Amino acid sequence: MTAKPILRALAGETLPTPPIWMMRQAGRYLPEYRATRAQAGDFLSLCYNPELAAEVTLQPIRRYGFDAAILFADILLVPQALGADLWFVTGEGPRLSTLTDMPGVQALKPSDAIHDTLAPVYETVKILSRELPAETTLIGFAGAPWTVATYMVAGRGTPDQAPAHKMRVEAPEAFDALIARITEATIEYLSMQIAAGAEVVKIFDSWAGSLKGAAFTRYALEPAKAITAALKARHPGIPVIAFPREAGEGYIGFGPATGADCVALDNSVSPEWAAEHVQKDGCVQGNLAASHMVTGGQALVDETERVVRAFRNGPHIFNLGHGITPDADPENVALMIETVRNFRG
Ligand code: CP3
Repeated sequence: MTAKPILRALAGETLPTPPIWMMRQAGRYLPEYRATRAQAGDFLSLCYNPELAAEVTLQPIRRYGFDAAILFADILLVPQALGADLWFVTGEGPRLSTLTDMPGVQALKPSDAIHDTLAPVYETVKILSRELPAETTLIGFAGAPWTVATYMVAGRGTPDQAPAHKMRVEAPEAFDALIARITEATIEYLSMQIAAGAEVVKIFDSWAGSLKGAAFTRYALEPAKAITAALKARHPGIPVIAFPREAGEGYIGFGPATGADCVALDNSVSPEWAAEHVQKDGCVQGNLAASHMVTGGQALVDETERVVRAFRNGPHIFNLGHGITPDADPENVALMIETVRNFRG
């Protein structure tokens, strides 16, 4: 049997047609997702219901035939499993209890105590590895320590991550202890996802772009490197995708420096620049602007072809630069996939 297309790209192969999946492919732009979410009651109940979480993971695979399915869960389940309170405010986003000092870090549960809370997620992975089509790759994921910490410190999403920056500068010991705890928990969590059947894992560092210079190395690069090394030691050969979103120049060398097999790119970098500076080291993923899923038309086709063309001489997994938004048109997703798969440029 030929290996699955995503696994071939992650192994460094240049394929005639890039495999494709989409961040947030299971989400509110799909009517079938909204129906299952209503059945679950709310977002967190959906995350912790293995049958329904598996169902929403499978919906975009059935509708579009993506090359990968991404486990349906959220990066904020790890803080919850470590003892933080977590809830979602409709129309606003996540809220958590806040944490700003060493006593707060010490009150967290140990990293090996997360599995009771997260057991339903591992069950979702098991269901998916049974039910996915043979050619579809199952991707597990977690938030990167810095991004998860920004939510744990502020208790919510913040435009500039100021509370986490304040803590890392003013209480570095406590902040480093927090990063260490999240790093350990993330290794445990991803390791269990892999044991349950995840074939690839992705580390989402959505707020890496607000770290510069030595802080980027310390809080984005080093944790990704530690997680990747630990996972590969426990699960030899497991491919890792790192997503240091909006890293800019920080994308250069990020794959080799962390040991990640693939660097996911957001759309603040051009595909031509990234082909030259990032793809030269190995597989890249990305990076069509998610706004095209709202606006569609010839611009969608042109920009999709531009991304495929820019990355055609090396290993590439086609994706958006960030998650698809709830106002996207499902027809535009179909047009993007058709454009990628029919490209002969
Ligand atoms: O990509 C997928 O389809 C897999 C599932 C997935 C979700 N969240 C489901 C979700 C993944 C990989 C995530 C990652 C995630 N979650 C990140 C990193 C990636 C990124 O987008 O930058 C972050 C920062 C979070 C935290 C989070 N979860 C926020 C800020 C929000 C609210 C914003 C929003 O879109 O409403 C969520 C909620 C969330 N996570 C939804 C989904 C489908 C929407 C919830 C709903 O159904 O109402």
